[in-house]
Amino acid sequence: MIKPILVHAMALSIAFGSFPDAIGKNGAVSSSSSHASQVGIDILKSGGNAIDAAIAVGFALSVTFPNAGNLGGGGFMVVRTADGDVSTIDFREVAPKSAHRDMYLDENGDVVSGMSLYTTHAAGVPGTVAGFGAAHEKYGTKSWNYMIRPAIKLASNGFKLSYRDAMYLNGSRSYFLRDKEAAKIFTEKDSYSVGDLFIQRDLARTLRRISIGGAEEFYTGITSDMIQRCMTRTGGVITKDDLANYKAVERDPIEFDYRGYTFYSMPPASSGGICMAEILNQLETISFDSVGYHSAEHIQPFVEAERRAYADRAEYLGDTDFVSVPISTLTSDSYAIERFSDYNPNAIIPSSQMGPGELVNFYESDETTHYSVVDKWGNAVSVTVTLNGKYGNGIVVDGAGFLLNNEMDDFSIKPGHPNKYGLVGKEANAVAPFKRMLSSMTPTIVDGPDDNLALVLGSPGGSTIITTVAQIAVNVIDFGMNIQDAVDSPRFHHQWLPDVVFYESNGFSEETLGRLHGNGYQFSEKSSIGEANCIQITPSGIKFAAADSRRAASALAY
Ligand code: DON
Repeated sequence: MIKPILVHAMALSIAFGSFPDAIGKNGAVSSSSSHASQVGIDILKSGGNAIDAAIAVGFALSVTFPNAGNLGGGGFMVVRTADGDVSTIDFREVAPKSAHRDMYLDENGDVVSGMSLYTTHAAGVPGTVAGFGAAHEKYGTKSWNYMIRPAIKLASNGFKLSYRDAMYLNGSRSYFLRDKEAAKIFTEKDSYSVGDLFIQRDLARTLRRISIGGAEEFYTGITSDMIQRCMTRTGGVITKDDLANYKAVERDPIEFDYRGYTFYSMPPASSGGICMAEILNQLETISFDSVGYHSAEHIQPFVEAERRAYADRAEYLGDTDFVSVPISTLTSDSYAIERFSDYNPNAIIPSSQMGPGELVNFYESDETTHYSVVDKWGNAVSVTVTLNGKYGNGIVVDGAGFLLNNEMDDFSIKPGHPNKYGLVGKEANAVAPFKRMLSSMTPTIVDGPDDNLALVLGSPGGSTIITTVAQIAVNVIDFGMNIQDAVDSPRFHHQWLPDVVFYESNGFSEETLGRLHGNGYQFSEKSSIGEANCIQITPSGIKFAAADSRRAASALAY
């Protein structure tokens, strides 16, 4: 693929390979679902701000994108207000009170296969509704029920399934059939097809209760009783006390500078901000100015910066409410210089000599969802939410119409044992009561050199999220791409262990791959990495919204 090269083009002019999906001067929304993006635009047009719209989009996604949009999961939100203040809301799930370090091990100390992913014990205490409640309390301008109304409508009147929606539902049929409540809702038809009307009455009732009772309803009202009933039915351990004790937490963002741009991203319980800072800080020690896009000289140092950041992730990162994480060191320029000082393009250090671990089979599937919103005042919101695996643990809360997550697998359930995404961890990310499991979600907002709002970024993709966001940023900042090109461009990924460079099929030249192979890298092809629904804002305030062309995502602007 030939890409226009215009160094630091954002400050100068915008280069177009492909035109962004949507362009507008007022507001923009990019999400995984056309219904949800439309809800966001409608809220903006009716005078709501970006945070109002983000809450409405989030609730809509719980209806129209149930494989990742959720009430029974969690996520992270970065908010930048028009005056440039940035904060984050951490609504990651927490381990229930009865959780303990070895809860996924048998009497011999071996991992019980699938327990942290496909059983009722896989669920953490959900955080999404509390997160949206906290965002509304701090930033909202429209009433709470105004934001939930469109989701209620989509659930009770139904929405037409897209080709992708139908494909997902049919593809997970056997998963749904494991749970009678899930089967009732998601296997009502033997096979779904594009254009089918999909109605979710139980979910509509739950949303209505939340809209009347506020976020607390989910944690202390009838919905919490329903969750408890589900736990009794399935032998789960989340209690009403666990729900009542859940709190979304406002945290300062991870802030760092990359070539004059200021990045704001998630602190722990996500590893996203720290790891991206580490990657970009290391890359800042070199220049891409005369480097060809996706040449070996571009990919190799990137991969090496990624390897080092993910090795640190496994060692140091965990919930800062439980372990102390050396955040300022890990995100400092001096640490990046030191960390990258052993990089020699002609003598790469394999991961096995950079830290402990084992090689694993690594795979990715699309189960998280990222959306970005910008309003006419310049407020911006970057949100990533997830159930972890597609449709979470596959268990629907009795009568409540929503799925529970399987986020507990993001803990290091045994030191060195790889999670679903092949990530390993140690003590810092061990299971403990009320602890948040380490995430890779990287919702990010970037200010330009003049402190103007420049980019709203994020993606699903498990462990690949961080490297996806970092590449998009570098595509824009170093290689002068507009956001659509930056998002659509093929991606690569290295996460320390396994010691392999993953890359998207057909995205890289034989010459580049051959040279990197010659330098000692192993490669593994993946059909697709991530779904980055992002927005770029020009210095004059025009919004370019990009829906990732890898999926049927939807960007709208006006
Ligand atoms: O928090 C995390 O890092 C994972 N639970 C995210 C899962 C994910 O992105 C799945 N989508 N591809």
